[in-house]
Amino acid sequence: MSESQRAAGRVASVMQEERVFPPPAEFSRRARIGSLADYRRLYDEAAADPGAFWDARARELPWITPYGRVLDWRPPHARWFADGRINASAVCLDHHVAAGRGGKTALVWVGEPTGERCVMTYAELLAEVCRLAAGLRSLGVGPGQVVSIYMPMTPELVIAMLACARIGAVHSVIFGGFSSEAIADRNHDAAAVAVITADGGWRRGAQLPLKANVDRALASPHHPPTTVKHVIVLERTGQAVEMVPGRDVWWRDLVSGQPTDLPPAAMDSEDPLFILYTSGSTGKPKGIKHTTAGYVLWAKTTAEWVFDLRDDDLFWCTADCGWITGHSYVTYGPLAAGASILIYEGAPNAPHEGRFWEIVEQERPTIFYTAPTAIRSFMKWGLQHVEGRDLSSLRLLGSVGEGINPEAWMWYHEKIGGGRCPIVDTWWQTETGGIMMSPLPGCTPTKPGSCTLPLPGVVPQIVDAAGDAVEQGEGGWLVITKPWPGMLRGVWGDEARFVDTYWSKVPGKYLAGDNARQDADGYYWIMGRIDDVLNVAGHRLSTIEIESALVSHPAVAEAAAVGRPHDVKGEAVAVFVTLRSGNPDDALKDALRKHVRQQIGALAVPDDIRFTASLPKTRSGKIMRRLLRDIAAGRETVGDTTTLEDYTVLANLRSNDE
Ligand code: WTA
Repeated sequence: MSESQRAAGRVASVMQEERVFPPPAEFSRRARIGSLADYRRLYDEAAADPGAFWDARARELPWITPYGRVLDWRPPHARWFADGRINASAVCLDHHVAAGRGGKTALVWVGEPTGERCVMTYAELLAEVCRLAAGLRSLGVGPGQVVSIYMPMTPELVIAMLACARIGAVHSVIFGGFSSEAIADRNHDAAAVAVITADGGWRRGAQLPLKANVDRALASPHHPPTTVKHVIVLERTGQAVEMVPGRDVWWRDLVSGQPTDLPPAAMDSEDPLFILYTSGSTGKPKGIKHTTAGYVLWAKTTAEWVFDLRDDDLFWCTADCGWITGHSYVTYGPLAAGASILIYEGAPNAPHEGRFWEIVEQERPTIFYTAPTAIRSFMKWGLQHVEGRDLSSLRLLGSVGEGINPEAWMWYHEKIGGGRCPIVDTWWQTETGGIMMSPLPGCTPTKPGSCTLPLPGVVPQIVDAAGDAVEQGEGGWLVITKPWPGMLRGVWGDEARFVDTYWSKVPGKYLAGDNARQDADGYYWIMGRIDDVLNVAGHRLSTIEIESALVSHPAVAEAAAVGRPHDVKGEAVAVFVTLRSGNPDDALKDALRKHVRQQIGALAVPDDIRFTASLPKTRSGKIMRRLLRDIAAGRETVGDTTTLEDYTVLANLRSNDE
């Protein structure tokens, strides 16, 4: 069976899934929300009076100045807890230290090189955050200014995020796999004043040139002169770097002599906390803006509900802080909830393919949250890496980033969870700030492949192109009909794009960009994107972004990128390229791959490149992506091709099949 046939079978089997797994009785007895009746009651309470519901939860946060109204909703603009003053780092740190929990473990960190490990208590983390915050302030970084963070997964990455929050600076974390051009784009769009980075980071035994990438970004000839005035450099690998006098400063020099008790800045609830760039359906990533109080409350509350966090938990979310999952469930959610987090710096297969299970055995996390693409890699690497490992500390498993196919779900359940751990399949997005739909592990019966039911406060609907609700069981666009505290507040510097992308196709409702369907039990099944956004190994990529990167190469005249099914990554990038010059050979394919890596990063590099004399287009000149998707997947082309401008193009593409 071909890869594409297997993938098609996967989709079909998801739709027919009938296995139901009730939560284990022992789990339910101890859980915060231990019965479906409790869930329904909470859900109904939030729906009937959202103001009172969120007021009750927000009151538990350490306010510097109390808020006035809970919600001011002028679609599409929400203000939550308006006029209140609060600081996100104080919610995550000072609050617990003040309550006498300063000695509790905040984080356990494991480095990629075997044997490297460190533990920090809440009091120690607070002290380090204060020192860096004071250092940033001494450089003149202040409230509302944007600081880019481009770092490996070290405790200092979490410290950098919280230090920005402490002085009211807005952080923009850039995933360490992005290229210098991608850094330059983001710095420029956000007018960042500083970059926090490291000399390098470890990845599968190699040293990533993080500082060198930042240097290149700041000198990018494709961008206006940089707005960045300061570069703070953590010494991580010890590799040689160039330090530019007056601009670059070592982290250790910046924090030395700084106070360990800097008071948190009193930020307005609606002051921006961070921006995080994500791919949309254009060539330019958009800076999703999240604000302070609502975001932190949402991250904390959802972490407590979905992961059923309790005092003795050690929570391992394997996401990098370069993605929203790392923001909400490495940093803000669990720390606001006072939990202990586990962070691992490196790749799951470094130095061997059983590294994660070795870490579970050694560190004994109780909750493990990862992506389906990782689970499929573990399956491929083989059971020998899992068997014989003591995974008995685990009590709950989670999945995020894409739908989890039932085969991977069952493997996760049996081989990692030992059949005893509930699995929470969490649906959400960069834009939603935190989990929106997920089983609650103590009460929701799960069906492999479904993210089940909305959390309290989340009111989804499935609609057709006219915005009308579809019949039960029908597929359609997923929208969220009511505001929630963690919702995005805008696209950085681009109000029109915010309104147009999320609020105009179905007026007044948040358009998630996913297709979904509800089954007879009211369970939600996510069925892929409605736009040209790909999900490659759990990472969002825009086809147009990849196309723009390709056409910026001198040999390329035109390019079309599509996704094709892939056994491990879920989707892989396939591109069709017409040439302006050069020979359609393997050397050019290599050059184009390298070019995409430079323009965006390794995650966007196409798996397949096909040269073609022309691309199939409609009479109005639109590239017919559906046809290209079928060809890329090796499927017989189905559906209407009557608008195809030039039938011979299709035949030529087929005969070029590799
Ligand atoms: C997809 C990641 C199915 C979806 C937190 C969404 C999922 C996009 C799931 C957001 C899930 C995420 N089931 N699909 N449990 N979780 N997705 O912004 O298409 O990186 O729109 O946020 O990932 O990706 P993002």
